[in-house]
Amino acid sequence: MNYCVVGLQWGDEGKGKVVDILAEHSDIVVRYSGGSNAGHTVVVGDSKFALHLLPSGVVRPNVNCIITNAVVVDPEVLLNEIETIAKKGITLKGRLFISENAHAVLDYHKREDQLREESLGKNKIGTTIRGIGPCYADKAGRSHAVRMGDLRNLQQLKEKLQTIVNYKNKVFTAVYPAQRWAEPISADAIFEKCKSYADKFLPFIIDTTEFLHNSIKDGKSILFEGAQGTLLDLDHGTFPYVTSSNSSSLGMSAGCGVPAKYVDKFIGVVKAYTTRVGAGPFPTEQDNEIGQYIRDRGHEYGTTTGRPRRCGWFDAVAVSYSVRIGAIDEIALMHLDTLAGLKEVKICTQYAIRNTHNEVTTWFPANINKLAQAEAVYETLPGWDEDITDVKDFQKLPPNAQKFISWIEKLTGIAVTIIGVGPKRSQTIFRIH
Ligand code: GDP
Ligand code: IMO
Ligand code: MG
Repeated sequence: MNYCVVGLQWGDEGKGKVVDILAEHSDIVVRYSGGSNAGHTVVVGDSKFALHLLPSGVVRPNVNCIITNAVVVDPEVLLNEIETIAKKGITLKGRLFISENAHAVLDYHKREDQLREESLGKNKIGTTIRGIGPCYADKAGRSHAVRMGDLRNLQQLKEKLQTIVNYKNKVFTAVYPAQRWAEPISADAIFEKCKSYADKFLPFIIDTTEFLHNSIKDGKSILFEGAQGTLLDLDHGTFPYVTSSNSSSLGMSAGCGVPAKYVDKFIGVVKAYTTRVGAGPFPTEQDNEIGQYIRDRGHEYGTTTGRPRRCGWFDAVAVSYSVRIGAIDEIALMHLDTLAGLKEVKICTQYAIRNTHNEVTTWFPANINKLAQAEAVYETLPGWDEDITDVKDFQKLPPNAQKFISWIEKLTGIAVTIIGVGPKRSQTIFRIH
């Protein structure tokens, strides 16, 4: 079986945990989009891994890990990650493969991300400042792009970097005030770093599309790991408060060169509530003691940036949209344990949009002007007090928690087959439908 795991909200749904669990029965785990803006947490016993670029199958020693074409790779972050997990006894020799066509995030991308965000003031997107947008922009612009395969020809790369850095220095000097933009970027310094990356990465760089198609022919089981979430998708999310890639399941085929027809099951990951980091409309946001309760109990602080996550109720309008556009087969519902202790829990069932037409809709308007006008209409359900972190069986969950899940299934039209009741592998309930 080949699975694709994808976030259905604004990221941080618990994809890392779900991928790590499913990787037990996979030969290959594939990261197909995004970059080090992602932070995927895997908890194994007492060890916690915060992964940014390495696929979350990495902690399972027999799994091959692939980083494909549409991932933007920050070589510095990836090296750090490889060294960090090596210290925990995990080696990647012979089982990590990076696409020669994956674009490289270099220092000037991170600088540009930061300068642009600072210059936007209160209108900033709230990016992770990992250089993601500028790198994808260079990819689309083509002439100033550097790909991992370019590390194979250092002389050519040196010349390319001179041209790119010259251009960037001119643009940054012209656009950004001098106090923010003190030091010109040095092409030589970036080249020296690239030279050291070449030594480290060349053994890992291959044509990952060929590798994956051969693996499919050989009957290997492949797990595709999404980053971010559907509502952060560049084309289908809440633009411009999105990331710069197709982070919904629609980005999977283009991201790795494997058509969706080879995927047997798309598993959508959600939390039992909603979180968002960065700016943008969020109809079910609870900027109050409920949101704080969820933030405290769920430890809702960014894995990548440490920022407090905005918290709110489960939004069935948003999730149903993600289910529809992503052809999602089943839901993994994480953090059910976090809601324990609330007297009542709410699910948003539709939006009232207070415009000239006074619409009521169950279709998520990705247009943010409309979304900003949306008022969440809720179904209120009784909560539960019991600690459920040791529950192993759906039938043993408090009846109100079971009812909450049934509502989600009714509203989204698909089954909840995996339920998270804590961060550990063992704190997971599986349901067969
Ligand atoms: P990802 O980006 O989708 O992989 O999610 P993150 O790793 O950024 O954030 C999810 C957080 O929730 C991590 O700290 C996980 O260890 C934790 N987590 C995952 N599932 C559960 C769960 O069911 N209950 C609780 N309490 N924590 C969970
Ligand atoms: P994972 O894979 C949550 C958000 C940022 C910002 C917007 C644009 O861990 O779920 P970017 O740096 O991509 O240009 O930022 O997207 N964002 C995420 N939010 N989880 C993520 O990844 C995210 N990756 C990007 O906070 O709002
Ligand atoms: Mg995350």
